[in-house]
Amino acid sequence: MASKLTPYLVRSAFRPVRIASRTQCRTFTATRTVASGSLAVHRDTPVNNAKIPFKFTEQNNKLIDEILKRYPSQYKKAAVMPILDLGQRQHGFCSLSVMNEVARLLEMPPMRVYEVATFYTMYNRNPVGKLHVQVCTTTPCQLGGCGSDSIVKAVTDHLGIKGGETTKDGLFTFVEVECLGACVNAPMVQINDDYYEDLTPESIIQLLKAFQESANDIQGTGATGALTGKDDKVKSGVEVGVGSGKAAGKGGLKIPAPGPMSSRRSCENSVGLTNLTSEPWGTEVFRKDL
Ligand code: FES
Repeated sequence: MASKLTPYLVRSAFRPVRIASRTQCRTFTATRTVASGSLAVHRDTPVNNAKIPFKFTEQNNKLIDEILKRYPSQYKKAAVMPILDLGQRQHGFCSLSVMNEVARLLEMPPMRVYEVATFYTMYNRNPVGKLHVQVCTTTPCQLGGCGSDSIVKAVTDHLGIKGGETTKDGLFTFVEVECLGACVNAPMVQINDDYYEDLTPESIIQLLKAFQESANDIQGTGATGALTGKDDKVKSGVEVGVGSGKAAGKGGLKIPAPGPMSSRRSCENSVGLTNLTSEPWGTEVFRKDL
């Protein structure tokens, strides 16, 4: 009996010492702040509150009419996603006012629109820079090529910001995202609407520099505004296609066409054909352009 109690008695003897040695201070919250918490929570800010008026531009109203024609009139709320996207492109981000206006247009409860906007991460519920740099860090991108870790490091070192932050000039917002569906060309990044793939730390820095130059030139000429209409209410915003017209900036850096930054044209094997190398029989033929 005594031998059974011995471990318990030994542990109990040290218990008061252990308790006394514990610090009496503890942090207010024991867990790390979850970054995605912002997806589900709205806090009024000077640039994002229900009092800020928002109306779609005339051009976008025509687009909305076109979109609504795709759905039976009793199901027009099915258009919530493309119209939210349109609102985001006009206003720069999916603000509360944008969501409320979409709810009004589609005659649906605002909460239903909030549910959609908070579920899909492509809706930015806070202002982002003119160039939204989304680096994929899911496993294939982490393992493919030089690996997304080195791309993230190159981006953060070059821009001097961490994930979720925007540069002081409002040009770049950098975030890490999950798979964007271009794993075969890993590692890759999405900048606004375009994919840049087969990246290396050098090529991503060149890319960012080219965008930087081009955006500065465009800002200099006053040619600002989102693809579907300028909204003066907001300074920052996704200006789709900033400089992606391949024009070289004053520094001579040319923005490459979206796609692989390697010698690949698409997602073909980088060492060439290794199977199905002979002419197929029947009526099928090889493409002449490959
Ligand atoms: S894992 Fe990066 S695109 Fe799929």
